[in-house]
Amino acid sequence: MAFKSLLPPAEKRPRAQSNWPTANRRLFYALRENFALSTWILVGAFLQSLVVFIIPRFYAVLPSVVILGARLAETLAITYGWRKNHYLDDAILHRVSPQVPDEDGNFHEDSAREPVVVFMLGAKVNHPLGIFAPNVKTLGDYLSQMIKILEKDSTNLGFYGGSSWTSQDKNGATELMFLSYWRSTEDIHNFTYGDLHKEAWDWWNKTLKENDHIGINHEVWEVSPKHYEAIYVNFQPTLFGATSYLRKGDKMVGGTVEDQFISPLIDARRGKLRSSAGRLGRRPEELYEKHGLAPGATYES
Ligand SMILES: *[C@@H]1O[C@H](CO)[C@@H](O)[C@H](O)[C@H]1NC(C)=O
Ligand SMILES: *[C@@H]1O[C@H](CO)[C@@H](O)[C@H](O)[C@H]1NC(C)=O
Repeated sequence: MAFKSLLPPAEKRPRAQSNWPTANRRLFYALRENFALSTWILVGAFLQSLVVFIIPRFYAVLPSVVILGARLAETLAITYGWRKNHYLDDAILHRVSPQVPDEDGNFHEDSAREPVVVFMLGAKVNHPLGIFAPNVKTLGDYLSQMIKILEKDSTNLGFYGGSSWTSQDKNGATELMFLSYWRSTEDIHNFTYGDLHKEAWDWWNKTLKENDHIGINHEVWEVSPKHYEAIYVNFQPTLFGATSYLRKGDKMVGGTVEDQFISPLIDARRGKLRSSAGRLGRRPEELYEKHGLAPGATYES
């Protein structure tokens, strides 16, 4: 039986995962990552000290006590089950596996049937000012513009979706990675040699001598069919599972079917998608036999 999307289709293309939080939340996150925790605490301590000079001590302490108290109360309420755990909103509480539909947006019976290209774009700022260091804004603006274009014309450009990740290096700098999934390496190359990226590239070449503090990198992984698999348990759609695919509308007898964007997530509680071998498009029992561990012996979900 052909696979079927677990989530309902959408009329408009869902935004890439990197754009899920609002612009404000993304900005706050970038700021938080930009400076050391101790810097933020010291800034807070300094501001609080100023407040104590100006207004009576009793009132000065109120805002922090009230806000911390409210947060503590909410945390306790969620921990003891008195309040709905909003961190679980939209989570899928069982096993799901992503499968790429064909170019018309149809699923088939075999798993990992389509090739996929994974593209990781990395950047970091080796400077105490972080994102406020010289030329970083220009680079960031180019990246945002590129993601906007990719989202708008995703189907033609062969862009399936992407998410952003940060990590701290040993010197204390934040590394950013944009992890994205593509139809083909040719699509990535076409975008690279397109107008906007060429303009960004040109800017980079021209300002190269000023940019020692800006690190950029990329990795491309071209994956053949039957050489990848993924599973998510108790997760909101994420990574490859948060990509989306156009299912072209068709004229049918008695009406027209509109274009739809579909999720790649398939229920993997039963059937071949339950096992790693099955998701790789091999014989689903292969690993159970080899390692003597079958479903039931593993966790049920
Ligand atoms: C890439 O661009 C070339 C030249 O414009 C075009 O012929 C080709 O179809 C494009 N490839 C993809 C995958 O869109
Ligand atoms: C930027 O410089 C590199 C390496 O010197 C070169 O290969 C590339 O063509 C240049 N890009 C543009 C857009 O000029």
